[in-house]
Amino acid sequence: MRIHRTSGRRVGTLGPMESPGPAGAGGPLSRANAALQRRRVDAARSGAHSEDLAARLGVVLGAAFTVCFLTGVLSHLHQHPVTWFPIPPVPAGAYRVSQGMHVATGLASIPLLLAKLYVVSPHLPRWPPVDDALDAFARLTLLPLVGGSVLLLFTGAANIASWYPWDFFFPVGHWWAAWLVIGAMLVHVGLQLPVLRRVFAAGADPAGPGEGVAEPDGGADRRRVSRRGVIAFAAGSAGLLTLFTAGQTFPPLRRLTAFAPRRPDIGPQGFPVNRTAVAAGTESLATDGDYRLVVVGPGGDESSLTLGQLRELPRVERELPIACVEGWSASVHWAGVTLSSVLEEAGIPVADRRDREVRVSSAQKRGLYGSSTVDPTLASRDDCLLALEANGEALHPDHGAPLRLIAPNRPGVLQTKWVTSLEVL
Ligand code: HEM
Repeated sequence: MRIHRTSGRRVGTLGPMESPGPAGAGGPLSRANAALQRRRVDAARSGAHSEDLAARLGVVLGAAFTVCFLTGVLSHLHQHPVTWFPIPPVPAGAYRVSQGMHVATGLASIPLLLAKLYVVSPHLPRWPPVDDALDAFARLTLLPLVGGSVLLLFTGAANIASWYPWDFFFPVGHWWAAWLVIGAMLVHVGLQLPVLRRVFAAGADPAGPGEGVAEPDGGADRRRVSRRGVIAFAAGSAGLLTLFTAGQTFPPLRRLTAFAPRRPDIGPQGFPVNRTAVAAGTESLATDGDYRLVVVGPGGDESSLTLGQLRELPRVERELPIACVEGWSASVHWAGVTLSSVLEEAGIPVADRRDREVRVSSAQKRGLYGSSTVDPTLASRDDCLLALEANGEALHPDHGAPLRLIAPNRPGVLQTKWVTSLEVL
């Protein structure tokens, strides 16, 4: 018989359902019940299924989900601004960091969730299925918690791989699943607080399952996954996933972006493209001799500027990131004119546009995100540009030629490409 190393405490404290009790007597139902109970007792004592490991993994997964939730809500607020939470334009790379963290932490959560489900799996089937009303509630909250988590992680990962095997609009489904999961997670943590207190009050037990507990089957089943095995799987796969995707946001690791759908330095002019000019139906715009930028003032007056007129405005150069909602980002050297100088040239002085948003619209014929709005603070800044060049060359058609918006601390979907009109609202 193999005896586990002692740690001065017992892990997997047995609750009423884990109590071994008299087994085996009675009809088939009570024999099945006794077998289930024995499995749970074994599991509670076994290192790989102990409440100690379940609690510790739960804390790590909860922290990862909290980071995902907060950064996800931030991304939502970028795209659906509210007056009570104004997002400042500085630091210019803040969205790049927060959305990069969102996707990296979300991907790392996949092996963490798998490990957590493995650890608690023997505790799920039991007869009778619930002990009392509180237990019924606790078990019911597992449905949205587990179902919502699987949905969130699956939709997130499929989205960055541009795979949409569903009918709903991804951000809407992902958004509501996130609220469901966070709500269920808070309830779950609240109900598990006594266990968490007990586990963390007892201190670290990285090595084994507990105090002189014999392996339930006398150590005969060597195929059983050990506690160390579960920890190695969770930490190893989460670490490797992060290492091989973080380079899409973090330049020093860009050569290791094996699992990231985009490498930040690959694409025309040295950075990636999400929607090409062909996909947007704008491939002829870059060479269209009749191109005009239409500018509509607050009173509805309309004027237009040719590319030649735009190039005569003071040239401005800025290093600004392009940061995609899908997590990748790249630093790009842009050259062009400020949005403010274009509006001024079109006869709309600062006094007429103070406190007014500017709608920037694209010529794109297909796909979402054909326009975006720029708030008054951003519109007046000298780093809110209509770019004509990127990384020292005329803008590539896939990057929005002849003219695109680029401004600090904005998701890529709001950096409108193929700009054909500005409207002071
Ligand atoms: C594999 C894991 C995940 C990936 C790859 C991922 C990816 C993404 C992406 C690409 C977006 C931007 C959507 C858009 O605006 O087009 C997003 C938004 C969001 N994510 Fe995730 N996500 C993951 C996991 C999670 C988790 C675990 C949570 C919460 C616990 C979460 C909460 C959110 C929220 C609240 C939004 C904002 C949705 C909106 O704009 O309406 N995500 N996620």
